[in-house]
Amino acid sequence: MAKAPLMVRPELLSRNLAGNIYIVTGANSGIGFVTAKQLAKQGATVIMACRRIIDGERAAREISNDHPKGKPEVMKLDLGSLASVRAFAALFQQRYNRLDGLVNNAGVMNTPKGWTRDGFETQFGVNYLGAFLLTALLTNLLKASAPSRVVNVSSSYHEQAMGRVGSIHFDDLNYIRRRFDSWEAYAQSKLANLMHAREFARRLDGTGVTAVSLNPGFVRTNLVKLPVPPSAAKILTFILTPVLRLGGMIEPWEGAQTTLHALLAPEIVNQNGAYFSQIGLYKDKASRRGGWPMRSPNPAAYDDDVARRLWDVSETLVGLA
Ligand SMILES: NC(=O)c1ccc[n+]([C@@H]2O[C@H](COP(=O)([O-])OP(=O)(O)OC[C@H]3O[C@@H](n4cnc5c(N)ncnc54)[C@H](OP(=O)(O)O)[C@@H]3O)[C@@H](O)[C@H]2O)c1
Repeated sequence: MAKAPLMVRPELLSRNLAGNIYIVTGANSGIGFVTAKQLAKQGATVIMACRRIIDGERAAREISNDHPKGKPEVMKLDLGSLASVRAFAALFQQRYNRLDGLVNNAGVMNTPKGWTRDGFETQFGVNYLGAFLLTALLTNLLKASAPSRVVNVSSSYHEQAMGRVGSIHFDDLNYIRRRFDSWEAYAQSKLANLMHAREFARRLDGTGVTAVSLNPGFVRTNLVKLPVPPSAAKILTFILTPVLRLGGMIEPWEGAQTTLHALLAPEIVNQNGAYFSQIGLYKDKASRRGGWPMRSPNPAAYDDDVARRLWDVSETLVGLA
């Protein structure tokens, strides 16, 4: 029998967030959309950073209709392009002079062999390096707005994805020489999300900026694509949803709980660098019940030398070094 998902304390979801400004990447669908909607419901200004403006505007209209007090604003951000990340960060800082929370939520999974405009393997580039650069460009503003938070949406698949153990392959981060494996690449990118938060927390300790990472759970979103045409996928989803629910799949509102907890719970300031997990698909049985916070079952997540090296290498790759 599937375990019940972890849920945010109700009082945190009724707190007035008017005056607070958040960025949620990939806010037009899935977990990012629900996160943005809840923040807007609580009166916050939410920048919905989306790669497709039309989809973003549609999602923002839905939020405004439901929650007229919220202030959703769509801004263009393609994490697969460093130029787009730089343009977004510059425009955001022209328009806004504070940032209470950055939610690095956007992501892709199990993509075919390919590279971003800057030559990074798609998942490493979009899920991790784009978010790394975005966070770096906004760090001074986050510091000036402290107490503030960075929330990286990682995955239980940072432990292992379809049997491929998550590790950082410094010898060939972008699959130029080694055989490409889409699940291994996803696991690498999600481990990098987790390590990024830990290393950010170490480097920014004492500044009032808290950084954490999380697994949202196995969530019914567009990320999980069935290998069939869209019309067949609709029918199959209808049939499979109750079965998958028994297997631990949760709804987007439940999938957004860990992000909202990481953004809103006051105790998070004492958990800098920690990893939080919804119930999830871990190989490690004890981890499946999740935990806020929880120790990752992947020992690689706690290799501080790798985290430092990954940070330094990333700075070079995105042109910050
Ligand atoms: N669903 C799960 O079971 C699950 C489990 C563990 C972790 N996660 C993580 O949760 C996060 C959110 O995923 P989701 O499940 O909510 O899936 P989703 O509904 O597909 O949402 C992903 C979002 O990321 C955006 N995105 C993709 N590539 C982008 C790019 N190059 N630049 C900017 N935005 C981009 C997507 O935009 P488009 O709509 O334009 O594609 C979409 O808004 C991801 O980081 C994912 O790895 C999900």
